[in-house]
Amino acid sequence: MDTLTQNQAGVQKDTFPINGTDYIEFYVGNAKQSAHYYQTAFGFKLIAYRGPETGCRDTVSYVLQQDKIRFIITGAFNPEHEIAQHVQKHGDGVKVLALWVDDAKDAFEKAVERGAKAAAEPQTLEDENGTVTTASIHTYGETIHTFVERNNYSGVFMPGFEAKESPMEVTPIGLKYVDHCVGNVELGMMNKWVDFYQDVMGFKLLVTFDDKDISTKYTALMSKVVSNGNGYIKFPINEPAQGLKKSQIEEYLDYYRGAGVQHIAVATDDIIFTVDELRRRGVDFLYVPDNYYEDVMDRVGEIDEDIKELKRLNILIDRDDEGYLLQIFTKPVQDRPTVFYEIIQRQGARSFGKGNFKALFEAIEREQALRGTL
Ligand code: FE2
Repeated sequence: MDTLTQNQAGVQKDTFPINGTDYIEFYVGNAKQSAHYYQTAFGFKLIAYRGPETGCRDTVSYVLQQDKIRFIITGAFNPEHEIAQHVQKHGDGVKVLALWVDDAKDAFEKAVERGAKAAAEPQTLEDENGTVTTASIHTYGETIHTFVERNNYSGVFMPGFEAKESPMEVTPIGLKYVDHCVGNVELGMMNKWVDFYQDVMGFKLLVTFDDKDISTKYTALMSKVVSNGNGYIKFPINEPAQGLKKSQIEEYLDYYRGAGVQHIAVATDDIIFTVDELRRRGVDFLYVPDNYYEDVMDRVGEIDEDIKELKRLNILIDRDDEGYLLQIFTKPVQDRPTVFYEIIQRQGARSFGKGNFKALFEAIEREQALRGTL
């Protein structure tokens, strides 16, 4: 009843406080080579390692960091291993969206009490640098949330990992923090997962997009965005909607073999520099035709950046009541057309680029057509 009253008043309260994204862990087929790609192409620095040399006999993990963003790239040696099984089914993909909390045991117990399915009981890891406590719950598909409590831990990442540096010089490209992480779920499942984040985590519903907002001539999708109280965690959840042809969400679900993380949006303060570097280093982006730029200024008004530069790099622009934003989307970063990245620069705007949806989805459809999956 209490929650309902708070909902009606519009002041939903987090079930437990979340300070931000702690890390995102990928299960991949070849961690050594994926870690190299994130260093050379995306400018992440290797900071820690766990593998046979550190006493971990069956898996290998590389911890990469750029400003506040931390990725773990993990692989397994034996085909029977749960990680290898995950990769066989889903291809390379996101397994863990880890959330930094003040009290991992408390977060886990409260989440489970409110209906979350436990994935790993609380455990405290210790080394000479202090302690880190973790616990995990399931979310959509085979994805999990790990709560990470790192009170006073002074080591480079967490117990079990050894500090390790990139073997070559790595230049960052200005990526600062995770802005939002998007999940694709099966038809009819969006509201179930939105309810999960509201009921279990105490998140609030930020915005709803229906198939009228997100549709082209051929395909459609629906999306709802949930957020925690301080707004540091934003999870849009997509489901396919009825269209004339197969939607990008259905394509994802077919290739990923179920629900999972579709894209990770990372923020930069200088998108022109960031995208210039990414392109120079061989990262592919979705292509929006030149005519997008013909009337975009009428739609978004005055902006600080040189429109010629934005056009050269194919960066998209949108505006809301609070300001504007610049964004661009990579093509999938592994063999299967599943996970991709969004690079975003927010100049006041707190929305998600609704004005670009149509151009964007048409760009994705062109890619689908090339893959023969539209
Ligand atoms: Fe996004």
